[in-house]
Amino acid sequence: MNAIIESRNLKLWYGDHQVLKSISMEIPEHEITALIGPSGCGKSTFLKTLNRMNDLVGNVRITGEVNYNGKNIYSPEVDVTKLRREIGMVFQKPNPFPMSIYENVAYGPKTHGIRSKTELDGIVEESLKASALWEEVKDRLKTSALGLSGGQQQRLCIARAISVHPSVILMDESTASLDPVSTGKIEDLLMELKSQYTVIMVTHNMQQAVRISDRCAFFLMGELVESGSTEQLFAKPQDKRTEAYITGRFG
Ligand SMILES: Nc1ncnc2c1ncn2[C@@H]1O[C@H](COP(=O)(O)OP(=O)(O)O)[C@@H](O)[C@H]1O
Ligand SMILES: [Mg+2]
Repeated sequence: MNAIIESRNLKLWYGDHQVLKSISMEIPEHEITALIGPSGCGKSTFLKTLNRMNDLVGNVRITGEVNYNGKNIYSPEVDVTKLRREIGMVFQKPNPFPMSIYENVAYGPKTHGIRSKTELDGIVEESLKASALWEEVKDRLKTSALGLSGGQQQRLCIARAISVHPSVILMDESTASLDPVSTGKIEDLLMELKSQYTVIMVTHNMQQAVRISDRCAFFLMGELVESGSTEQLFAKPQDKRTEAYITGRFG
C-alpha cells in the first residue's frame, strides 16, 4: 500500500479529556477512506489532526505522529499554511463566502499570490468543471454564491478546496445536510476525484461508506477499533464492536 498519510500512536486531549487513544492508521493514496462510528467518538477530531486544524483550538495537547509523504506534520519546521493548501477540508454545512461564485473559487489562489486574471479565470473554470458545477453556473459567475442551492454550494466548496491544487481532501459529513439527489452528485464526483486526489471522509451514513469508500475505519470512544477494505469490514468485521455497529445495534 502506498500510504500518503500515516498516523502513529496519535493521542489527543482537550484539557484533561483524552479524545484520541493512540490511533495508528495508514491512508492509501488515490482512494476514498471513510471514517465511521457513533457521535462523539473522535472522528472529526481525528480528521482535523490530519491538517492541523486542531491547532486553532485552545487547550489541545497532541502526542504521536502524523506523517504526510513520510514527514511528520507536527515537526516545528512545518509550514502550516502550505500544509493546509496540500490537505484541504470541506465541512458539514456548505460555507461559501458571501461573495460571488467566481470570487469564492479565486480566493485561495489569490491568497497564494496568483494575480493574473487569465490565470485566475483558468483556475476558476477548471475547478468548477472538476466539481461538476461549471455547466450550472458558467453564466452567473459574478452573482452571489449565497443564491445557489445547498447542493450547489457544497460543490462550490469542493471547487474552492480544489482551486489550490491539494493532494488530499478531508470531508466532514459533507453531504449530511443535502438531499439525496445532491448527495448522489457529490458521491459521483468523489468517485471521479479520487483518480487525482486522496479523499478522507467522515460519514454517518453507512450506505454511503459502502457505496463509495475503498477503505473504512471504525472509531469508538476515541479508539480505532478496526480498519480495512470496506468490503471486508462490512462483510467480515474482525471485532464484535464493529459488527454490532454496522448491524445497527448501537450508534
Ligand atoms: N473543541 C473542543 N473542545 C473540547 N472538547 C471537544 C472539542 N471538540 C470536540 N470535543 C469532544 O471530543 C469528543 C469527540 O468529538 P468529535 O471529534 O467531534 O466526535 P465525532 O466527530 O465522532 O462526533 C467529544 O466528547 C466532544 O465533546
Ligand atoms: Mg463529527
